[in-house]
Amino acid sequence: MDRLTLRRPDDWHLHLRDGAMMRAVLPETTRHFARAIVMPNLVPPVVTGRDAAEYRDRILSAKPKGSKFRPLMTLYLTEETEVRDLRAAADIGLITAVKLYPAGATTNSASGVRDFTKVRRVLENMAQIGLPLCVHGEVTDPEIDIFDREAAFIERVLDPIRRDIPGLRVIMEHVTTSDAVDYVRSGGDDIAATITTHHLVINRNHILAGGIRPHYYCLPVAKRESHRRALVQAATSGDASFFLGTDSAPHTDAAKLQACGCAGCFTATNTLSILAEVFEAAGALDRLEAFTSLNGPAFYRLPVNDGTITLERGDSVTYPAAIDTEDGPVTVFDPGMPLHWRVRD
Ligand code: NCD
Ligand code: ZN
Repeated sequence: MDRLTLRRPDDWHLHLRDGAMMRAVLPETTRHFARAIVMPNLVPPVVTGRDAAEYRDRILSAKPKGSKFRPLMTLYLTEETEVRDLRAAADIGLITAVKLYPAGATTNSASGVRDFTKVRRVLENMAQIGLPLCVHGEVTDPEIDIFDREAAFIERVLDPIRRDIPGLRVIMEHVTTSDAVDYVRSGGDDIAATITTHHLVINRNHILAGGIRPHYYCLPVAKRESHRRALVQAATSGDASFFLGTDSAPHTDAAKLQACGCAGCFTATNTLSILAEVFEAAGALDRLEAFTSLNGPAFYRLPVNDGTITLERGDSVTYPAAIDTEDGPVTVFDPGMPLHWRVRD
């Protein structure tokens, strides 16, 4: 096969940032994606309906001319989130989901949740109206090894919340372990998971063996090879519980390349080429569309996109090593393998 037409894809987990950074990274997503779930972890975070409306308008006015891209907004859940504000934002279709960051789990998560009993009423309301909760699934307990934080989160936090609030619809985001894959597979209709491009490609050796490679450092951190294989299996299986959320997370090189570097891989630019390569290697090109374009809308109860994109296989495709922003260069994720599939313009 050397040509593949897919429904236009969506990105169910994306960091667009704000200001100059947003203007630089937005075209990298709007080129191929029709919609994206936009993460609310700005500084300060997007916590109220009003914050979300203003952020959405800034995104819309930065979007390239002629683009029909639709940002799907999220609210950042805090212990102070008001049910009334959240329900009003959901009622008018301003927000598509709510994001739960355990406090301190990752970049800009200081305002996240510490005491889960304080958000119980909000979660009950979300279950009532079917508003999905996007979850950064890592415990923050410093006693827990960083490679075990996702598995511990399922047992200590996620499963108890789901038992406590039946009907709550949850997306376990950027899953990195076979434990999470198994949990989602056996979890019924109210749970799904996003998988990033980079977690399908790298394991922890890529970050640490033969020198430290900050551009591969993201959260949740990539795990051992057996987990990466479980992710590839889940993504390429066609199972409707798994769909693409790139977690493309731009940081300038200056912010990544320092003694305490930021977490995040920037994959918006070359994601579709990489995914086609991964699915081809797994003999699953015929299931790429489910992962990029069908399973996500089905879980979010949204229509699939009207348009299509066509991928063509040819001689190797190259991408710029970095994109320029007013704040400095942002390195594009290097998959470390030749890519052959390009999106036809
Ligand atoms: C994200 C970021 O930079 O905002 N970083 C990351 O490593 N994925 C935050 C997040 O999604 O955890
Ligand atoms: Zn993220």
